[in-house]
Amino acid sequence: MKKEIVFITAILIFISCRYSKKETTVSIKPNNDSTFANVKDRAWWKEAVVYQIYPRSFKDSDGDGVGDLKGIISKLDYLKSLGIDAIWLNPIYTSPNDDNGYDISDYRNIMKEFGTMEDFNALLKGMHERGIKLVMDLVVNHSSDEHYWFKQSRSSRTNPYRNYYHWWPAEKGKPTYRWSFFDVKSEAWKYDTLTNSYYLHYFSKKQPDLNWENPKLREEVYDIMKFWLNKGIDGFRMDAFQFASKDTTWPTLPKGYENNVIKYYGNGPHLHDYLQEMNKEVYSKYNVMSVAEGAGSSPEEAMKFVDPARKELNIAYHFESVDIGKSLNDYGLVNYKKIFSRYDSVFKDKGWLAIFMANHDQPRMLSKFGNDDSLYKAASSKLLSTFVLTMRGTPYYFNGDELGMSNIRFNNIEDYNDVDTRNKYENLKNTGGDLKAFLEDKKQTSRDNGRTPFQWNSTPNAGFTTGKPWLKVNPNYTTVNAATQENDSNSVLNYFKKIVALRKSSPALIYGAYKLYDINNTKVYAYTRVLNNEKFLVVLNFSNTETDFILPDELKSFTTITLTNYSSAKAVIITNNSIHLQPWQSVILK
Ligand code: BGC
Repeated sequence: MKKEIVFITAILIFISCRYSKKETTVSIKPNNDSTFANVKDRAWWKEAVVYQIYPRSFKDSDGDGVGDLKGIISKLDYLKSLGIDAIWLNPIYTSPNDDNGYDISDYRNIMKEFGTMEDFNALLKGMHERGIKLVMDLVVNHSSDEHYWFKQSRSSRTNPYRNYYHWWPAEKGKPTYRWSFFDVKSEAWKYDTLTNSYYLHYFSKKQPDLNWENPKLREEVYDIMKFWLNKGIDGFRMDAFQFASKDTTWPTLPKGYENNVIKYYGNGPHLHDYLQEMNKEVYSKYNVMSVAEGAGSSPEEAMKFVDPARKELNIAYHFESVDIGKSLNDYGLVNYKKIFSRYDSVFKDKGWLAIFMANHDQPRMLSKFGNDDSLYKAASSKLLSTFVLTMRGTPYYFNGDELGMSNIRFNNIEDYNDVDTRNKYENLKNTGGDLKAFLEDKKQTSRDNGRTPFQWNSTPNAGFTTGKPWLKVNPNYTTVNAATQENDSNSVLNYFKKIVALRKSSPALIYGAYKLYDINNTKVYAYTRVLNNEKFLVVLNFSNTETDFILPDELKSFTTITLTNYSSAKAVIITNNSIHLQPWQSVILK
């Protein structure tokens, strides 16, 4: 008996020595041109890691409780330390803030709460000095009702700005029903007594839709774009632009269409004409990133936005991979793998995608795709970062996810700020709906979960502000914060830096072919990324339990661990036939 134990122990020691390498050591080669030899169609926006900043919540410099540009400036060295290449900044233009900056009343000025144009210039300079590019939000499906154009437009039926928006004269009766995302009654046509007409607003009533059929409006938008591009910014993320073209005969849409709104509101009759015109007038003159937020409802439709031959935009940011309901656990990993694999098969030879799991319109990535329970939160945060940074497409990474920030889960409607949550609550209240169930659901799904202030340190309000924060700070900031994690080599933050560095130094992780293995495995997402002789195998255990990934013959040559998210005590064990993974363990092999 004793002999057997000694024998088995010896074998186990042999296996772990043979296969459990130094799992968190990454050797990063410099990213120089020769590493990328043979790559066709290189572009900076394909190679960039984009980090999204929600300015209202990032860092407050003047104690008014709202993040601002000077706050971001004070954190430029932090941003540099992440290793990211570009920032996508949510809207910072003048706005009455019905939808936190997505309702713009002056496209050429900075929102007072955020600072001044001098602050903006300093921010852009500071970023460029550190080799970080800046991509701004372009919100031109709609403006604010407080924009000069709309004030003029509503003043009379004959005003020169009338056709900058969509109006319906009330003497013709009620316009055809259109559902609105944020309206208290979900109605997108709002009656305006001043001219006895209705105007269209797909979002809130303070966000009237611009009329892209009007060439004058289009010219105005191109001028605005040039104004910012000539200042030296590096691109635009086009907000809700897939809704810009409308069928202005306003046909009746099928009952229940609002459950598939992108199909009916996206891809209007002239959408691609407008994008081609915009490209000719603006984008073709600059080497910038242009991202289509929302890009149809299928990979084929998404391709139309970014097929280079069509000369429109360069990155498609589709919603299928976030529109999966409340959590990945409910949706199922197999279905999730199918989305990415379907898109990749259409995009493998041309076009380019964005890869992301979160943004300011989503709950926290950890709470939706991972597990924010204290047992699993660190490992699952690291695993999700591994996924976003090793897939084919430009990674868009949301601020705070690098710390493993999680949903705050408010109990009361008064805690919410978001127009979407508040107006839907109001709607339910007026129609006698189940408010308790609604609030329960929002704990998991509300956008405000992703908008709570950034957790800088363990001082009051997480070091975000010295005043009263505009949205409550997640109480877990005492342990989940940047300062603590910077000093811990095993932290979620330091892992993020490693995976960013690995991606940037590995052409295969940027341009390499993606191949999925074991599609029906309900726990493990495994794929290879291959470019010429550089080959990676990524194996991700999206579950709370240990599991084995059985290696098909063609993967048996992958034995060297490049990076894993567990410390050595729980090193990954690779035998000849399988990889044994801990809960939420990720491993990248060469
Ligand atoms: C933005 C949202 C915004 C909406 C209306 C979206 O796609 O990302 O935050 O509420 O457009 O502008």
